[in-house]
Amino acid sequence: MNNPNPVIPLFDLNYGLEEEDATLRVLRSKWLTMGPETEALEHEFAKYFKVKHAIAVSSCTTALHLANLAVGVKQGTEVICPSLTFVATSNSVIYAGGTPVFADITSTDDWTISPHEIEKKINKNTRSIIVMHYGGFACKMDEIIEIANCYKIPVIEDAAHAPGSIYKDRFLGSIGDISCFSFFSNKNISTGEGGIICTNNDDYANYIKKIRSHGMTSATLDRHHGHAYSYDVTDLGYNYRIDEIHAALARCQLKKLENGNERRRLAATRYKNALSKIDRIKIPFGNYCFLANYHIFPILLDKSINRNSLMVFLREKGIQTSIHYPPVHMFSYYRAMMGDQILHNTDFVARHELTLPMYADITNEQIDFIIDALRAYCKNT
Ligand SMILES: Cc1ncc(COP(=O)(O)O)c(C=O)c1O
Repeated sequence: MNNPNPVIPLFDLNYGLEEEDATLRVLRSKWLTMGPETEALEHEFAKYFKVKHAIAVSSCTTALHLANLAVGVKQGTEVICPSLTFVATSNSVIYAGGTPVFADITSTDDWTISPHEIEKKINKNTRSIIVMHYGGFACKMDEIIEIANCYKIPVIEDAAHAPGSIYKDRFLGSIGDISCFSFFSNKNISTGEGGIICTNNDDYANYIKKIRSHGMTSATLDRHHGHAYSYDVTDLGYNYRIDEIHAALARCQLKKLENGNERRRLAATRYKNALSKIDRIKIPFGNYCFLANYHIFPILLDKSINRNSLMVFLREKGIQTSIHYPPVHMFSYYRAMMGDQILHNTDFVARHELTLPMYADITNEQIDFIIDALRAYCKNT
């Protein structure tokens, strides 16, 4: 019998009274968008991630669009990015008028974009590189930044998976020229919708602040406080603003980030210890030596395992799983635009990857139940 409501979901919110209080605080304040909560979030985020500017927006997708515009992506330019990512990474390049150029991942163990493949794709039209820290594991940032500096190309970090992960002594999302975080429901900082852009570059920050709100030279709050009485429009802008409830929720979630990530790491250790004894399952990032936030818990199935039938088997036991990701270059829209492409490691991983449940509150019993189910499947098929 199919179990319609998973007992162990893929992801669960780390919410409590703090989030309820924050929501009520905003409602009672009667200021609903781009106000004191947004300002406080931007200040707290910049301080936490040790960046000069943090600019809150309506999603990571809109953050990526603005980041592409800020670095000068437009028609006739190319942006190198991974295909093993959520489609928003490369869609954002197209929104800005540019062309995404997919580079393969490093290996079937390291699923982040390969510096070597990036360098092979650089040409005179390359305007930017977008890296995506898959699952909260860092891309090879030293090599990538070295290549980018050599060709004078800015690096955008798609840090949707990465809040709280550390590379050497820096947070992911504070290393490239601009970074974009997501507050989507299933992220480590979760507000439903929302996102934030970080940068140390004043020009990028000023431009992004302006075009997130129609290219206007003053904000509603400034005019409300009498700091400005009118405005000019100096660029083609958008309504990519965040509202105060989402900003207030993000502030609560930022406070919980470190503890939530620590609990995810404990869960990951339990998973890894048990899964290392199942021959037909491999755990990626086997030699990873930095601090990951375990945004998701991906595994690589042996070629002999039928992934769909395993997913159905787990679903019937109440365990929700997912795939990260169907690669972007295989989507109909992209194939129609770019034709067929082969990215060997991306294609292999995309065929055999399975994502297991992961969230701060997952219990040892739940993990053991999942492991038992996987062991039983591998033994009997
Ligand atoms: C890697 C990556 N980039 C971008 C996004 C887009 O984020 P948002 O839903 O906040 O627009 C996501 C969301 O799932 C993501 O996983």
